[in-house]
Amino acid sequence: MEDVVVLGRETISAGRYSHAGENVLTDALSRPLRDLRISVTDRCNLRCSYCMPRDVYGKKFSFLPMNELLSFEEIHRLSRLFVGLGVRKIRLTGGEPMLRHRLERLIEKLALLEESAGRPIEIAMTTNGTLLASRAQALKDAGLSRLTVSLDALSETTFRRMTDSEISVGQVLEGIAAAQAAGLAPIKVNTVIRRGINEDEIIPLVSYFRNTGIILRVVEFMDVGTTNHWKLDEVVSSREIVARVDEVYSLAPFAANYQGEVARRWRFVDGAGEIGTISSVTQPFCGECTRLRLSTDGKLYGCLFAANGEDLRATLRESASDLALRQRISGIWLKREDRYSELRDALSSDKGERRKIEMSYIGG
Ligand code: GTP
Ligand code: 5AD
Ligand code: SF4
Ligand code: SF4
Repeated sequence: MEDVVVLGRETISAGRYSHAGENVLTDALSRPLRDLRISVTDRCNLRCSYCMPRDVYGKKFSFLPMNELLSFEEIHRLSRLFVGLGVRKIRLTGGEPMLRHRLERLIEKLALLEESAGRPIEIAMTTNGTLLASRAQALKDAGLSRLTVSLDALSETTFRRMTDSEISVGQVLEGIAAAQAAGLAPIKVNTVIRRGINEDEIIPLVSYFRNTGIILRVVEFMDVGTTNHWKLDEVVSSREIVARVDEVYSLAPFAANYQGEVARRWRFVDGAGEIGTISSVTQPFCGECTRLRLSTDGKLYGCLFAANGEDLRATLRESASDLALRQRISGIWLKREDRYSELRDALSSDKGERRKIEMSYIGG
């Protein structure tokens, strides 16, 4: 049966709508739309083997030309429409988002969205931290709410091996310190663990970030894209990670910050702060997935593991009205039934080769 959805002064014909003091658009599995992740560039200055292996993303790789990227005006316009449909958090990702020229100007524009929305809108970013030291204050001044830095090792040798680059760990740690000094709190650090490669970094990283207010989150290695040759036996489960940390520092489970948080929280019993675990492989969280992802060139994906996106850039560049765009986006969300991680086993035993989008393009 089809209901009529009223969004602001507009009427949208759609499948489902619920009201709880504000517009709440729910998808085919009753999940509200809350987060938008925007990849602002498909480029990166690192070559993490699990994301942009150099044998694929070397000199000959064709990154998107500038005119294929969504412009700041286009990103801002879409973000405004998404906020009108219930989005509360916009996360900038990449590639490495800080490689996008004049990123601070985009953040300034996005930070103003909460004034027109009349409610708080978080502007967050996930970065590799290598360019942060000299720009953390400018990001804060532009209106960035908070920051997550990816860091997979403290040992220079392992870091260089993981990132296949000459950049030093020190450069990332300086970036984190500058972000902390600028007040970009809470800062989170994401560490992806691969068995046999950086699992011995877990305890040093936990020790380093304890008592700093920075929240380390240990992420299970995921089967995103196809270039990283993912294998299940390289995944170290969150259960194992918690057990290993708990042997050194006693941990206790902690309530989520918000509904749909991907990380499980664990506090140090001695009061030294908290860590998080992200278990997309062993304990999928699709049931609470409130995210849409906008790729660098304006395709909208309902899932990190989706094969196809909806081309919003074409609609934007055909001079579509706000109403037409809003209807398109809400139509996509209303039909959404993605839950790849929950179906991973069934899908991978499927003989047909399943095309998946690379993380650097769709944004983590
Ligand atoms: P918070 O706002 O701090 O809760 O951030 P977040 O955890 O949502 O975002 P972040 O970019 O730090 O992502 C952490 C890790 O979880 C990364 O490895 C992401 O790829 C992964 N991740 C984030 N969202 C999803 C998701 O919807 N599905 C899956 N499978 N993984 C996700
Ligand atoms: N598995 C898990 N996390 C990944 N990331 C990138 N590729 C993978 C993967 N295959 C992480 C990055 C970053 C975040 C956006 O996603 O380390 O922190
Ligand atoms: Fe770059 Fe992040 Fe991918 Fe590493 S994981 S190659 S830092 S985008
Ligand atoms: Fe959401 Fe897809 Fe991740 Fe499941 S696998 S949590 S549906 S992005």
